[in-house]
Amino acid sequence: MKIAFCGKGGVGKSTVAALLCRALREEGLSVLAIDADPSPHLGRLLGFSEEEKLTPLSEMRELLAERAEKAGPYYTLNPRIEDLPERFMLTRDGLKLMVLGAIREAGGGCACPEQTVLRRLLSHLILQAREAVVVDMEAGVEHFGRGTVVPMDFILVVTQPYRGSLETAKQILRLARELELKNVLVVGNAVRTTEDEAFIEKTLGQSPVLSFPEDPQVAAAEREGRSLLEVEGPAVEAARRLARILLSHGA
Ligand SMILES: Nc1ncnc2c1ncn2[C@@H]1O[C@H](COP(=O)(O)OP(=O)(O)OP(=O)(O)O)[C@@H](O)[C@H]1O
Ligand SMILES: [Mg+2]
Repeated sequence: MKIAFCGKGGVGKSTVAALLCRALREEGLSVLAIDADPSPHLGRLLGFSEEEKLTPLSEMRELLAERAEKAGPYYTLNPRIEDLPERFMLTRDGLKLMVLGAIREAGGGCACPEQTVLRRLLSHLILQAREAVVVDMEAGVEHFGRGTVVPMDFILVVTQPYRGSLETAKQILRLARELELKNVLVVGNAVRTTEDEAFIEKTLGQSPVLSFPEDPQVAAAEREGRSLLEVEGPAVEAARRLARILLSHGA
């Protein structure tokens, strides 16, 4: 199951992605979390402290070069997670982390090469049963232009019940329709009331598959720099429900 999180900056993509990784682990899946944000912090949310040791995925070009003459585990056309070289991954308790690491020079422009690597990896990676890949995409809609989201089984569009984030969500839903993507689901975040929920549904013409409440435990963990693996509370419960919904879709 390949899952991507998209949405406007700051709506809670990384938070919800990290909580979902945790919930999928609790359901017994092996989870590969990929942080595709150029200023990565999914690792911190998942309690990985040694992120600086990781080689960013953007340096994986040869691996995905798709050149038949370079046969061998690094160059297989359809790698499995265990075929990927260790230096690109941190592993702990069935949870793996990769970072795309598209740190561009100031004024350096385009992230196209990084996005190409990510798209190829996501398209060619063969998952075994009970394996999930969860990608925390960069904010906004750029990855739709580059087709990075096409190989995903689920695209989860995170939105809060305010116009700014709903505009981005609307744009994402339109682009997803143009690409004829299936399983594009809206996830509400920081939803307080049924009015909030109704506002999301009315604005997007699609009701959230699930809404996360504002959770003081998540806010406290953020302030104290604690990982979301240690938190309990309503957001963790919501993530468990979301995991079960996705598993029942059975992609
Ligand atoms: N349900 C929630 N309850 C409490 N705090 C939350 C919740 N969701 C997100 N936050 C807080 O809101 C802030 C932004 O969340 P997060 O970093 O997950 O957003 P993002 O969409 O990944 O942002 P960016 O676009 O910058 O990557 C964080 O401080 C996070 O702790
Ligand atoms: Mg983020």
